[in-house]
Amino acid sequence: MAIDGQLNADERRLITEAITGAAKKPQVAVEVGTWLGGGSTLHILRALEQNGSGHLWGIEVDRSIYERMIANIREAAPQEANRFTPLFGFSQEILKQWKREQPANTTVDFCFLDGGNNPREQIEEFELLDPLIPVGGQLLTHDAKMRKGRWLVPFITRLDNWESRLHDISENGLFYAKKIAPRPSPESLRAAQRQLFRQKCQPAEIAASYLPSSVCKLILRLLPQKFSRNLTDGKN
Ligand SMILES: C[S@@+](CC[C@H](N)C(=O)[O-])C[C@H]1O[C@@H](n2cnc3c(N)ncnc32)[C@H](O)[C@@H]1O
Repeated sequence: MAIDGQLNADERRLITEAITGAAKKPQVAVEVGTWLGGGSTLHILRALEQNGSGHLWGIEVDRSIYERMIANIREAAPQEANRFTPLFGFSQEILKQWKREQPANTTVDFCFLDGGNNPREQIEEFELLDPLIPVGGQLLTHDAKMRKGRWLVPFITRLDNWESRLHDISENGLFYAKKIAPRPSPESLRAAQRQLFRQKCQPAEIAASYLPSSVCKLILRLLPQKFSRNLTDGKN
């Protein structure tokens, strides 16, 4: 049975290879945004199964999608489903709760972030996960060239304790990063924070943070489609 899923064949291959080719087999994998399960979720699970070890916790915020995803994974990948714990809810809340429930020495060896289109969410997800990611841990994010990745990609790119690369293999873009040192140098952290501050100061982002959503929607309706798409989920 084929399950609906996003990501093209090259993106799925890169996810698989990150897990099967890792120097130390990932034991703990966390994913934000499973959608229906046939894209990232299924391919992460198959790669863990191929390694013969590891477990994936996958977060999804939409109740009906979440339920369909669980049924899809159980039906299409019953063996791999043993390596999967689905988590329902909003990424930031679920990640905080999940961290509280894990043993104190838990590390997160592999992360895939592909949730909401608001760039603030990916940054906050990263801030929650980064302290648990060991040297050698891998972080992949989807929609790296879209609004979703607009803050996180330049932020990590400036941190000298991550080795990173934007794979320009789709309209959306897949970002890959591997931690190479426990902490960034103070200079690179300052450069990343300055860049993030500049992004947060963009007039469109300030408006999105402080104006009621009804006002934002009205502004978007009044703008030409090309501009409104760029502000919501469009390409950089
Ligand atoms: C682009 S889709 C994910 C596609 C999926 N990774 C795949 O490969 O098929 C984004 C998903 O993230 C979910 N989502 C959006 N914001 C979220 C959040 N803050 N926490 C958890 N899930 C979220 C959406 O409901 C949607 O199902």
